[in-house]
Amino acid sequence: MNVNGKPTRTIWPGRDAVEIIDQTALPHAFVVRSLRTAGEVAKAIATMQVRGAPLIGAAAAYGIWLAMRRDASDGALEAARTELLATRPTGVNLRWALDTVAARLAPLAPEARAAAARAAADAIAEEDVAINRAIGEHGRALIEKARAGKEKVNVLTHCNAGWLATVDWGTALAGVYAAHDAGVPVHVWVDETRPRNQGAALTAWELGAHGVPHTVIVDNAGGHLMQRGLVDLVVVGTDRTTAAGDVVNKIGTYLKALAARDCGVPFYVAAPSPSIDWTIAAADEIPIEERSADEVTTIAGITSSGYAAQVRVTPEGSAARNPGFDVTPARLVTGIITERGVAAASREGLAGLFPERR
Ligand code: MRU
Repeated sequence: MNVNGKPTRTIWPGRDAVEIIDQTALPHAFVVRSLRTAGEVAKAIATMQVRGAPLIGAAAAYGIWLAMRRDASDGALEAARTELLATRPTGVNLRWALDTVAARLAPLAPEARAAAARAAADAIAEEDVAINRAIGEHGRALIEKARAGKEKVNVLTHCNAGWLATVDWGTALAGVYAAHDAGVPVHVWVDETRPRNQGAALTAWELGAHGVPHTVIVDNAGGHLMQRGLVDLVVVGTDRTTAAGDVVNKIGTYLKALAARDCGVPFYVAAPSPSIDWTIAAADEIPIEERSADEVTTIAGITSSGYAAQVRVTPEGSAARNPGFDVTPARLVTGIITERGVAAASREGLAGLFPERR
């Protein structure tokens, strides 16, 4: 996507480092950081300088490349894979990317591994961009269908599943960009998405940078807006979707799905195939990340004099809990937007588009 008119991705390899947009500085500052070791990539994932399941996968793949540049032994490969895999447990793209790269490298002689790891990471990045463009086309068609002669189409989204959560284009927002660029009047309700405000900080920033009309709302406002007929469809991303169509995404997604069902609002999930976990039957097998309570008791922003600040919002000593994701059962999902088309949220629906996974 363009930043100040310049085509920009969230991650790009240099000669001996990988460059990232530090998403913890957004929306108030656009900061590019160079990561030179697998350890630095792991820290960037754990501290959410890079976040969003597809981007985490691509970053981890480049992390293996950086490790192989320093020591391409089996031990170093295993150590880097273990360190990167331990960063965040819920998004399946991380494991998928590490398995994909490790499988390419295992049969190779150490001296061939750094170049092969780089090629594998580049391929994962390019595949992500191609997948998201395809998802964008299917998402655009759903938005056009929802327009049905209305003056504009109101899409509600939760968290950030835009280009900042991927290498480029995004998943849930890819359809919004494609529709907007095709001249469809689309407006986005942006859930702030506490506690880390991926919506208020990241989704609002990237929609604004692309000129897409949007309105930031508190997480609890979506149901009310749906009751008032102000939401035509909900489109969210996923960190891991099961072969049966159960969807894990940012905490709060389940509540949006319940409200959408109660109000008869279509609820779509954009799922690139690397985010589908074909190996598990039930969603309750998916590890739900528990993050630090500080993310709940404090909030980040900038002061009136422009300084970044973290302020506490709870009384000193109050306990807080911070599960990062929740499960939306398939029965509440209208459809899953994949690169191959829109599937019913069911084993049959997904296998219909991915017969090789049957
Ligand atoms: O904790 P985050 O910011 O990594 O959570 C991100 C999400 O939940 C996204 O919706 C999901 O990763 C899909 S991104 C295309």
